Amino acid sequence: MSDSAAAHASELVAVAAERRWAWIVGAIIALIVVMMVVTGLHWASMPPSRVETIDAKTLHLRGEFVESNLGTTLAADGKVTARLVAQQYSFVPQCIVVPEGMPVTFRATATDVIHGFVVGTTNANTMVIPGFVATFTTTFNKSGEHLMPCHEYCGTGHEAMWARVQVLPRDEFLARARSGERLSCVAR
Ligand code: CUA
Repeated sequence: MSDSAAAHASELVAVAAERRWAWIVGAIIALIVVMMVVTGLHWASMPPSRVETIDAKTLHLRGEFVESNLGTTLAADGKVTARLVAQQYSFVPQCIVVPEGMPVTFRATATDVIHGFVVGTTNANTMVIPGFVATFTTTFNKSGEHLMPCHEYCGTGHEAMWARVQVLPRDEFLARARSGERLSCVAR
C-alpha cells in the first residue's frame, strides 16, 4: 500500500468513528428530550398537591369521605383535619369550622367534575379533582369568617358554588372539638 492509500484508509476509519459517535450522542440527546416531554406532560396532568388517588364512584358508600366523616376533627395528637367534598354545585359541609393559630390540614375530593376552592384572601387554595385527594396544610392567623368560592368553572351553577369558613378563636374551637364529633357550622 502506498503512503497516500494508507492515509486515505485511516481517514475513512476516522470518519466512520466520528459518524458512529455522532449517532450515539444524537440518540442520548433525543432520549433526554423525550424524558423531558414525558415528565412535563405527566406532571402537568396531575393535581398540584400530593398525589393520592381515591375511587370517586364509591365516595358516598365507604371510606374517608362518607358524609358522616366530613367536617373538622381534632385528633388525639392535636392535629386538625378538615374533610370536604365538592360536587355540582356545592361543598359538603357548606360551612367549615377551623381554629385560629393552629395548623389545619384540608383533605378534599370531588364527586363529578373538576372544582377548586380558595378561602377568602388566604393562601388556602387548591383544585379538587375527581379521583384524587387534594391536601394541604395551612394556619389561619385571624379569627373571622371567610367566603370559600369554587374557582374552577364546573358548569352552569359554578358561580353559585361556595361555602363559608369560620375561623374560631383557639379556645372556642378546642372547647367544641373535645366532644370528638365532626365539626361544622352548618345550621342544624
Ligand atoms: Cu364547582 Cu365551579
